[in-house]
Amino acid sequence: MERTIKMALVGAGMFGGDVHLRAYADLQRAGISAQLGRLGFDDWARDFAEIKFQLVAIATRTKPSARRAVENFKTRTGGEPKAYFGEKPWREIIRDFPGLDLVAVATPDHLHTEVIMAALNAGAHVITEKPMSLNIQEADDIIELARKRDRLVAVDMHKRYDPDHLRVRDDIKNRIGEPLYGAAYLEEPLEVSTRTFKWVEQSDPFSYVGPHWVDLICHYYQTKPVSLTAVGQKKRLVREGINAYDAVQVRVDFANGMSINFHNNWITPPDFEGPVNQGHEIVGVDGKVESDQQYRGFRWWNKGGGSSTANNHFTRDARPSDGSSSCLSYGVDSLTAGLAATCRM
Ligand SMILES: NC(=O)c1ccc[n+]([C@@H]2O[C@H](COP(=O)([O-])OP(=O)(O)OC[C@H]3O[C@@H](n4cnc5c(N)ncnc54)[C@H](O)[C@@H]3O)[C@@H](O)[C@H]2O)c1
Repeated sequence: MERTIKMALVGAGMFGGDVHLRAYADLQRAGISAQLGRLGFDDWARDFAEIKFQLVAIATRTKPSARRAVENFKTRTGGEPKAYFGEKPWREIIRDFPGLDLVAVATPDHLHTEVIMAALNAGAHVITEKPMSLNIQEADDIIELARKRDRLVAVDMHKRYDPDHLRVRDDIKNRIGEPLYGAAYLEEPLEVSTRTFKWVEQSDPFSYVGPHWVDLICHYYQTKPVSLTAVGQKKRLVREGINAYDAVQVRVDFANGMSINFHNNWITPPDFEGPVNQGHEIVGVDGKVESDQQYRGFRWWNKGGGSSTANNHFTRDARPSDGSSSCLSYGVDSLTAGLAATCRM
């Protein structure tokens, strides 16, 4: 029996048009088995080898961006998903592809819930970008509908798959003993809030990138937040006529007694050496772990280019002998985990 997972990608901007699109191109070319070993899912490699993946539709806000994404996908695979665009283009996709198996959601933060709910109602599984939603009621509604429809909603939390974080989860966490307190920070470039995103007034720096670290801490300790205090500032972006938070600081107290401070901004000046500044540290009763996710020991400088750093582990392209490219990395691992779960269903 031929099995094909038909997928649609809604949102193909900075992240959807890069990481999701490259990952789904690889799936369409070579299936999922090649990726499974990285996750410890080798047991499924033979069973899933015959499953085919087809990206049937890509939707964005405007026609040119939808066409660009389709062309990019075509260059990588030869396949040509149908382009959709507009205010609610996912509705047409669902109408045109009644047997759709999975919808990948990479729309702006405030536009996840509606797409997820529509996909679930159409009987499709979902892989969504973080944050799954911007409020708890919407999150509860999504979970309830997913259970009712017996569908998956996987949230892209790639920090869980960073090898440094796996080492903390599986080893260092036990060495440093019961956690007391910690800090996690992720500081994004000014360019993101002033040029790339049209939607910063509908979100904030913590809602945008804070979920990565909150999720990671919950994942390490299998505990849940019980209370929080949050403050934010509006001083830099208002200079550009943008009424959005520059920075947000959130202190979260967890059920296991630890307290973690999360610091996020999207106003880092372009002179900074790396794409983003990020890291975390946790103090336990018997030790401490510090992990710098920005400067990983790789730095170069050149005339006219200043001093730069890079994270070569997030995504990297392998070059198969046929001249194509395939994207390997912990940045793709979380998407693969969601897709592997979909294959099992
Ligand atoms: N996992 C990560 O590390 C990571 C990194 C960056 C962004 N993200 C998340 O991914 C999501 C997208 O971020 P981005 O950086 O790609 O943003 P972006 O602004 O670059 O892209 C947004 C995309 O959504 C499309 N879009 C906007 N309104 C739409 C609508 N009504 N219908 C269909 N498409 C619409 C745009 O055309 C564009 O293709 C956000 O939720 C963001 O938080 C995750």
